[in-house]
Amino acid sequence: MKNIHKLVYLSIQKKYMSSSTEKILIIGAGGQIGVELTENLSHIYGSNNIIPSDLKDAGIFKNNSFEVLDALDKTNLFNVVKKHNITQVYHLAALLSATGEQNPMFAWKLNMESLFHVLDLAKEKHIKQIYWPSSIAVFGPTTPQKNTPQYTVMEPSTIYGISKQAGERWCEWYFNKFGVDVRSIRYPGLIGWKSAPGGGTTDYAVHIFHQALKTKSYECFLSEDTALPMMHMEDAIRATIELMQAPADKIKIRGAYNLGGISFSPKQIAEEIKKHIPDFTITYKPDFRQAIADSWPKSINDTEACQHWGWKANYDLLKLVENMLENLKGKV
Ligand code: NAD
Ligand code: SER
Repeated sequence: MKNIHKLVYLSIQKKYMSSSTEKILIIGAGGQIGVELTENLSHIYGSNNIIPSDLKDAGIFKNNSFEVLDALDKTNLFNVVKKHNITQVYHLAALLSATGEQNPMFAWKLNMESLFHVLDLAKEKHIKQIYWPSSIAVFGPTTPQKNTPQYTVMEPSTIYGISKQAGERWCEWYFNKFGVDVRSIRYPGLIGWKSAPGGGTTDYAVHIFHQALKTKSYECFLSEDTALPMMHMEDAIRATIELMQAPADKIKIRGAYNLGGISFSPKQIAEEIKKHIPDFTITYKPDFRQAIADSWPKSINDTEACQHWGWKANYDLLKLVENMLENLKGKV
């Protein structure tokens, strides 16, 4: 599996290296997605062209020029963009679903105001392209839960979901009004072995691997049959970069694209882990995150992403579990 990971770099590298005139700022680079995105973009464009930033320097980016940057500080954001001649911004800073519900007003402030700062930079022609992630949290309890289509009822019940839905509308509006080249994906729950998740409802699907290897047992905060859309981080990073690299005329949706991956419940992933660790046990103690999970789709239809820019997922549950255990063994 490690080799497959390397091949992902190589194939993307081969395809795009020649067009590398980009200088890329990643906001919220110290988080679950940012760590892996920084690494992958650095492989493609060269570390000197990738500027990771976050609230604090945790010392994890040894080969990049790191900036301490609060996404809410518009002046400093502008200064960093000018200092490095930034052409693209990947804006990842946000409060996620679980932490957002604990601090709703701040979640709304952070998730919305920081997006406006980045959209305005592009509107004023300081940067050329924006990536901003949305989420399956844009859907709500009135959305059809199985094979959820791109266009459907969307009545999110979390502040996180409301902020992502509003963000999608604003992105499309900035594209229509000002031609801002903003691109977005509604990520499912993301599962990777290189970084820790930061406060979402799908985080159990990462924690379970760490606990399986450490203690051979896990207490899950969702009930056993709670199926949710999930994806290996490697697929998510590849989708993100493929979307950003696609010719502009292929991008027909400027809100955010549905992205399908895998759908499984805690019971199903535990059964798959047991095939590798036979004495692994799981117990269930649902908490406030159960209601959030219950309001989200169980699986996603991503026809538009497949048709418009050629998306195709690589990992199924079997491959994902194998890859996570293999890579985390000896490290947790
Ligand atoms: P995370 O919580 O792991 O990381 C977020 C990072 O943003 C953290 O390093 C944090 O320090 C930083 N940050 C917080 N406030 C900031 C501020 N004011 N200024 C600068 N940085 C700040 O989140 P993640 O999982 O990496 O998610 C990144 C983005 O992807 C978010 O927008 C999230 O909504 C979206 N997303 C993630 C998932 C997932 O499963 N991880 C799924 C759907 C969507
Ligand atoms: N993984 C994210 C969360 O659970 C989905 O956006 O919040």
